[in-house]
Amino acid sequence: MTEAPVRPRGEPAIRTIAMPADANPAGDIFGGWLMAQMDLAAGNVAARRARCRCATVSVDSITFLHPVYIGDEVSLYAEITRVGRTSMTIQVEAWRRSRDGEEQVRVTDATFVFVALDQGGRPRVVPPLASGDKA
Ligand SMILES: CC(C)(COP(=O)(O)OP(=O)(O)OC[C@H]1O[C@@H](n2cnc3c(N)ncnc32)[C@H](O)[C@@H]1OP(=O)(O)O)[C@@H](O)C(=O)NCCC(=O)NCCS
Repeated sequence: MTEAPVRPRGEPAIRTIAMPADANPAGDIFGGWLMAQMDLAAGNVAARRARCRCATVSVDSITFLHPVYIGDEVSLYAEITRVGRTSMTIQVEAWRRSRDGEEQVRVTDATFVFVALDQGGRPRVVPPLASGDKA
């Protein structure tokens, strides 16, 4: 079995704080809030790569590994793992860190597919990387 990573790779696409309004009736953070943050992170990376508006077309294999608590710092990491003709597959991980600690814990991961869209909302080709762009 592959060892679970002990720290995230690269820079987060988004970093935020889980607030009381994001909690479920049990007092932990609502899974839907976390999914929205992941979607925002992946969408940000997709739009930057495609240089246009992009839409989520699918979310796959979402796994909630550990809870998130009110006050946690939540960091969203998003990495493009495949570029198709009009679509991009993006692996997203959410990591939590308590306000008063240094340990980071991977709490959720999922695979998102985004489609690059033209002005009319139709799929358009993802442009090749310009020299100097990051993959
Ligand atoms: C995104 C959208 C324009 C795609 O339209 P479409 O008619 O399915 O387009 P296509 O069949 O040409 O597929 C476009 C790309 O998406 C991929 N795709 C489509 N459905 C997919 C799915 N369920 N899972 C993974 N990839 C998918 C195709 O493989 C294709 O990729 P490629 O060009 O890299 O080969 C359309 O589905 C749409 O508007 N969906 C709603 C998006 C949205 O509102 N998202 C927010 C949800 S609240």
